[in-house]
Amino acid sequence: MQRVHTGWLGRDVISIRDFSREQIEELLRHAHQIRPDPELLRGRVMASLFFEPSTRTQLSFATAMQRLGGHVIGFSGVEGSSLAKGESLQDTAKVVEKYADIIVIRHPLEGSARLVADTVSLPVINAGDGANQHPTQTLTDLFTIQRFHGRLDDLKIGLVGDLKYGRTVHSLALAFTRFRKIELRLISPENLRMPPAILRELDGIVPYVETSELDLRDLDVVYVTRIQKERFPDIEEYEKVKGAYVIDLKACEQLRRDAILLHPLPRVDEITPDVDALPQAKYFEQTRNGVPVRMALLRLLLGA
Ligand code: NCD
Repeated sequence: MQRVHTGWLGRDVISIRDFSREQIEELLRHAHQIRPDPELLRGRVMASLFFEPSTRTQLSFATAMQRLGGHVIGFSGVEGSSLAKGESLQDTAKVVEKYADIIVIRHPLEGSARLVADTVSLPVINAGDGANQHPTQTLTDLFTIQRFHGRLDDLKIGLVGDLKYGRTVHSLALAFTRFRKIELRLISPENLRMPPAILRELDGIVPYVETSELDLRDLDVVYVTRIQKERFPDIEEYEKVKGAYVIDLKACEQLRRDAILLHPLPRVDEITPDVDALPQAKYFEQTRNGVPVRMALLRLLLGA
């Protein structure tokens, strides 16, 4: 095993902004090397608090913990917890702190993971807070890009779909400020553009163009997202943009041979199933990569 740099033990993972390039690279190096080891986190407990639906994030965190010998407690949805009785998020966090060594939280409110991190002394990992951030998905995305392209600099990246409410693309776009010679093509309907606050952080560091046209030519990475129906204040607005982009075999004719097509999943209708067989389709491998990335992260934070 490699030497672990200081600064990981006990830290929170709330925003991708919390990480330098060196730290991202260190985490990815660990993720490339980590193997199941039932002794590494033996007896340690991860509390998995999911207030919003999740398949991949929840199960990959649980898989990661179990492959390192740790245990998982928690809930998904408020029905089975005392939150249904009106307990506050802070009180729930203070209780969970007494049972666990680390907390993983997904919650519909922006800022909720930070609130929990400020309430407890355990390390807290943000597994998605509303439309804000999803840093461990971004680490998984970077790991996948690095595996296929062998680098995280000098890349042309297209982000497609719901750039307004999609937390995965907010975290990912910000992560690219840590790398060199990145060009972003931000492809979305007019009313689902990347939030101005994120664009301001890109300004002067990562050149970007905003467009509504599904132009996938010359991109190294095409990152497709689901329109985030549950975050629209007005369902009629959703109806106007649903199905805005469909990546089908015809659209994929634009893709370079060595391009990779990513999607954090779940998909609804953004990528047709026949695309899955194309050599560029890497979203299921991307999903699998969530496990070693989360194993490496748990190991670093728990100092095993
Ligand atoms: C994403 C999420 O929850 O933000 N899913 C995931 O974690 N892989 C994307 C989405 O829900 O569209």
